[in-house]
Formats: sequence, structure tokens, C-alpha cells
Amino acid sequence: MKEFDQKITKSILTGVQPSGVITLGNYIGAIKQMVRMQDEFKSYIFIADMHAITIPQDPASLHKNIRSLVALYLACGIDPNKNIIFIQSENEYHANISWLLECNTPFGELSRMTQFKDKSSKNVNFYAGLFTYPVLMAADILAYDVDYVPVGIDQKQHVELARNIAERFNKKYGETFKIPDAYITKSGTKIMDLVNPDKKMSKSSANQKGVIYILDDLKVIQKKIMSATTDSECLIKYDPENKPGISNLINICVALTGKKVEEIERDFAGKNYGEFKKYVANIVTTEISSIQKRYYDIINSSTLDKILDENIKITREIAKNKFMLMKEKMGLYK
Ligand code: AMP
Ligand code: TRP
Repeated sequence: MKEFDQKITKSILTGVQPSGVITLGNYIGAIKQMVRMQDEFKSYIFIADMHAITIPQDPASLHKNIRSLVALYLACGIDPNKNIIFIQSENEYHANISWLLECNTPFGELSRMTQFKDKSSKNVNFYAGLFTYPVLMAADILAYDVDYVPVGIDQKQHVELARNIAERFNKKYGETFKIPDAYITKSGTKIMDLVNPDKKMSKSSANQKGVIYILDDLKVIQKKIMSATTDSECLIKYDPENKPGISNLINICVALTGKKVEEIERDFAGKNYGEFKKYVANIVTTEISSIQKRYYDIINSSTLDKILDENIKITREIAKNKFMLMKEKMGLYK
């Protein structure tokens, strides 16, 4: 069985919803951070497909997206020897634990979740799963006794709920769960839309020209960068307020090359925007091209299934033990 590095003692767990595509913004702002964290923590990463179905999904695309996202994470540098990456729905103990937790979660507390209020107000028809979603998230977290849960600020309330649920359960039935802390990830550099550099680059943007997808054709990526919005000054200088377009391109270079802003400004002193964009396009396509190569190798190989099979066994064992312990504490038959 796979062992974590013995020197690493603290653990993290994070779930990502399978949305099908990831952008350069996701890669720089989130995935690269996860890649860095894998050297410091025992880390569990899973595709939160059961959370995804709390809103209607097309089954065929969902099925494809789940596997594709695992392959993308691996292609982006998530190391299967350092992380336990798995698919949430393949481990039935998450839902089992969730039910036991639901029976210990006050309705009123769940009603206060702002994400539920927000999502339910936008849809006329919504389902019970949208309401109980945070309890499933608590189950995901509490099953593994992790120390930290890296999440964006929008998920902080859900982690707090998980802590409350765990504290209450421990008090009522005796020590069962470790109390986790939210680890609020400051989004790395925020990458902006190439057409509208005042707006964050987002997969749901109406204008695709401003968004670089990791699986975009390299020529398309080049074109998107060459036609990125800039300004009329012809000066390569970092000034997000007055020169958001150029500053965004500089940020992309800094994130992908590790160079300093001043270095880039110096290298491009006196040069024009066309030359700079060509340089940026070259950096981005070089990085993305190697991710794509790894992605297509992984998605078409049996290694992916082997990794998932091995990991699901490990996580089922852990979550099953927690489920059995909970049943025992609650007076159910094992
Ligand atoms: P989302 O795609 O909005 O579900 O976000 C998934 C993760 O990627 C979150 O941690 C975001 O903070 C991060 N992220 C999304 N878009 C960007 C962006 N344009 N720049 C930096 N980070 C981003
Ligand atoms: N709800 C999280 C999101 O939408 C995904 C998620 C599910 C998660 N379970 C989790 C994140 C457990 C951290 C820990 O982004």
C-alpha cells in the first residue's frame, strides 16, 4: 500500500468539482499551489462529482469530465506518489457518513448557508441535495481526520459547519473526529480576461477569446494572446490600474517563468507590444503544450485506472473505519 513520506505529518484534503475545462487562471491561481503543497502535506484530492450533481448535469458529459479532470490534474503536476487522488462517488462511505451526519445537523444551521441561499434563489426548481450539500462536504472532510482544508473564501462557511458538526458529535457520542481548520488559499496571482482585463479570466465567460483553456489548440492560444487588449502607450510596464492588459500579461510571465516583474520590464524596454505578446505566447504555449502531451498520454493509458483503483481502495478503507466507528457510537449494528 502507498505510504506518505514519514517526515510529513500534517494532512490536507480538497475537493474539486468536475467542470470539464480548466483555464490558465485555474492553473496559475489554484493548481500550481496544490502542486507546491504536495511536498509539505499528506494530501487527499478528489473529484467532487457527488457535489456536482446537486445541480442538473448531462450524464454523458459529466462522465467524461470526471476522468478528464483527474488526467488534467496529473498532467499539471499532481504527483500520484505524493497525493491520494480519487473520485468521490467511487467511495460509497462518503454518502453513508453523510447520512449519519445529516441526522446530527440542525435544519436551522443548514438554512443559514449562504451558498444554498444564493443558488436556490437563482433556480425555481432545486433539489434536496443542494440543501444537504454542506453535510456531504463535512463527511468528505471528517472521514479522513485531516488537519487542514484548503478552500477559497466562498467555501469557508462550509468548513466551519464541518467543524461544528464534528465538535457536536464528539461531545454527544465521545471522541470520533479530528477538528479540521480551513486553510484559506489566497488565490495565487489573479489572471484577468485577455479581452476584458478588468474582469477575472473565468470558464463561464461569454467571450471565449478572453479565456485560455488548458486544452485549447496551441494556435488558438497564440491567437488569443496576440489579440489581447492592451493600451496605446507602447510601454511595457507593470501598472495594473492604468495598464491592466499589459500588467496581466506580465503576471502570466512571472507565474510561469519565476522571473521578476522588473526583469521583464528591463528585457522589453523600448520594444513594442507585438514583440512582447509573441514572447508571452511562446511561454504559455510551451508550458501548455507539455501539459497537453502528458494529458493525452495519461487519459489514453491504463495507468490512470491503476492509480484510481489503488487510491480508491485506500480511501474506502479509511472512510469505512470511520463509518463503522460512527455506527457503533450511535448505537447502530455494525
Ligand atoms: P473556479 O474555476 O471559479 O471554480 O475556481 C477554481 C479555483 O481556481 C479557485 O481556487 C479559484 O480561486 C482559482 N481561479 C479561478 N479563476 C482564476 C483566475 N482567473 N486567476 C486566478 N485563480 C483563479
Ligand atoms: N464544495 C467544494 C466546491 O464547490 C468542493 C468540495 C466538496 C470540497 N467536498 C469538499 C472542498 C471537501 C474541500 C473539502 O468548491
